[in-house]
Amino acid sequence: MRIMRAAYASAFDADNPLAALTVGERPEPVHPADDWVTVQVRSSSLNHHDLWSLRGVGLAGDRLPMILGCDAAGIDPDGNEVVVYPLIADPGDPRGISILSEHFPGTFAERVAVPRENLVPKPADLSFTDAACLPTAWLTAWRMLTTKGRLDSADAVLVQGAGGGVATAAVVLAVASGKRVYATSRDAAKRERIAALGATALEPGARLPERVDVVIETVGAATFDHSLKSAAPMARIVVSGATAGHEPKVNLRRVFAMQLEILGTSMGTPDELRDLMAFCAERKVRPVVDAVYPFSEVAQAFARLHSGEVFGKVVLDHTA
Ligand SMILES: NC(=O)c1ccc[n+]([C@@H]2O[C@H](COP(=O)([O-])OP(=O)(O)OC[C@H]3O[C@@H](n4cnc5c(N)ncnc54)[C@H](OP(=O)(O)O)[C@@H]3O)[C@@H](O)[C@H]2O)c1
Repeated sequence: MRIMRAAYASAFDADNPLAALTVGERPEPVHPADDWVTVQVRSSSLNHHDLWSLRGVGLAGDRLPMILGCDAAGIDPDGNEVVVYPLIADPGDPRGISILSEHFPGTFAERVAVPRENLVPKPADLSFTDAACLPTAWLTAWRMLTTKGRLDSADAVLVQGAGGGVATAAVVLAVASGKRVYATSRDAAKRERIAALGATALEPGARLPERVDVVIETVGAATFDHSLKSAAPMARIVVSGATAGHEPKVNLRRVFAMQLEILGTSMGTPDELRDLMAFCAERKVRPVVDAVYPFSEVAQAFARLHSGEVFGKVVLDHTA
């Protein structure tokens, strides 16, 4: 059996997810159907999703060991530079789809197998590092702002927990769309960096100078009340994550009196990924990269994400 190096979940550890990560050898990817292809991974990026998987959230025990990683850019069997769209039809899953590393092996390996239709051409002016940031966090932020948040009809946007991968993406994309952007972060240094991206940076819970039309929520319990209070009449509060708790208290009076929309969303469609890449190319927008680690230091990359100190995306260089 051929083998390749990979980073995978070998167990679950709810308290110390880093202890559940193994770096070692795994079998080459298999093709469950004829239309699958194998991509040589050049760059991948980490998401909070990978830490959830190591904690045992969203990944079933009978799927272990599971290669982690949702995001990749690489080379297809015909030599084309591609970005891997990470959602795969999965009739056994209640959502009808699963994300790479939930059912099918993920991208933190030398090679990853996906249906051919999941390959999106990588624009030549996007590096492998930049391209590997887009399919999960950036796609999620793009759909939150556009399809769900209806950004075209918005003047002002609030992004909560702005140091994160999704949140920095939302700040950059909303600023590039010409909106007034407010962003909260617990950390003074991150607030300075958010301001440098063109947003007005605030401490969590701070009163905004105006109410906003779109709120980008990935933090959850720690910020949700502030999101409700900061929303203008008819605003859209778009939720794609709950890093700090998924059961916030919700003031329903405010929801109906202000006619707020609370919208859940996950990832995005292949067309939205193409639109996002076109937007990045056209507006010269590039992902915010916190750090690039050689694949041999994947454990350090996970520790960096786990530290909560990241500002933007943590990327793995699979050629190093
Ligand atoms: N549904 C989807 O399709 C989808 C896709 C991508 C991500 N997600 C989810 O979205 C969330 C963020 O993902 P990510 O990859 O962007 O994660 P990340 O890069 O690890 O960012 C998490 C951010 O949340 C903020 N935060 C964490 N704990 C907080 C607390 N107690 N109070 C206030 N802020 C807190 C921090 O911001 P500051 O340090 O700046 O305060 C941190 O930078 C995760 O829960 C993830 O599972 C969902």
